[in-house]
Amino acid sequence: MHRLFTALQLKKLLIQKALGDSYIEAITPLQEKSIDLPNSLDTLKQICTNCHLCELSKSRQRVVFGKGNPNSNIVFIGEAPGATEDSLGEPFVGRAGELLTKMIERVLERPRSSVYISNIVKCRPPNNRTPTPKEALSCRPYILKELEILQPKLIVALGATAFRYLTNDNTPISKARGHFFAYNGSKVLPTYHPSYLLRNPSAKREAYNDMLKIKKYLESV
Ligand code: URA
Repeated sequence: MHRLFTALQLKKLLIQKALGDSYIEAITPLQEKSIDLPNSLDTLKQICTNCHLCELSKSRQRVVFGKGNPNSNIVFIGEAPGATEDSLGEPFVGRAGELLTKMIERVLERPRSSVYISNIVKCRPPNNRTPTPKEALSCRPYILKELEILQPKLIVALGATAFRYLTNDNTPISKARGHFFAYNGSKVLPTYHPSYLLRNPSAKREAYNDMLKIKKYLESV
């Protein structure tokens, strides 16, 4: 019954959207919480796969939903899929993903498959541009629901976009990184995005220290 209600509500929203209704712009964090999404990752993935709530749905090849161990105590969240992710339908499988995998396997000393990885925005922005606030806010209910289902002990926000849209905090990533922020009974730790590290290898030292902090925290909870 609940699923039918959710499906009908979503259908109504999609029709409104098709008719040109731009209600997403008016969304506030309070209203966002009331959006009725399912408590099952599989059903949430299905809804995302059929999402047309923003312009990115027109240019995407694949919707990139989160992937990994749903029982993981740690979740990594990036910005949005790039070209490789868009064509394969999986998060962090390009060059940035290779670096993220190394960070997880070499510093946290656990396999990538033992963690869960997702993005704030599930569809690729053209030319890998930063998602607009409208795009990020229309997609945000999905990541918030993913996190509500997963209930990780720690969320690692990879880069400024993930940090900003998870916490509503506009502190520059260079200042916020390496610090713990409260998040619904859990914690968010921002660090540099792997793509930034590929462009700025000198920042790898700080990212390494953040990963050590993450490792120590997970050992303590
Ligand atoms: N960058 C991201 O933020 N996410 C991906 O999935 C890939 C690259």
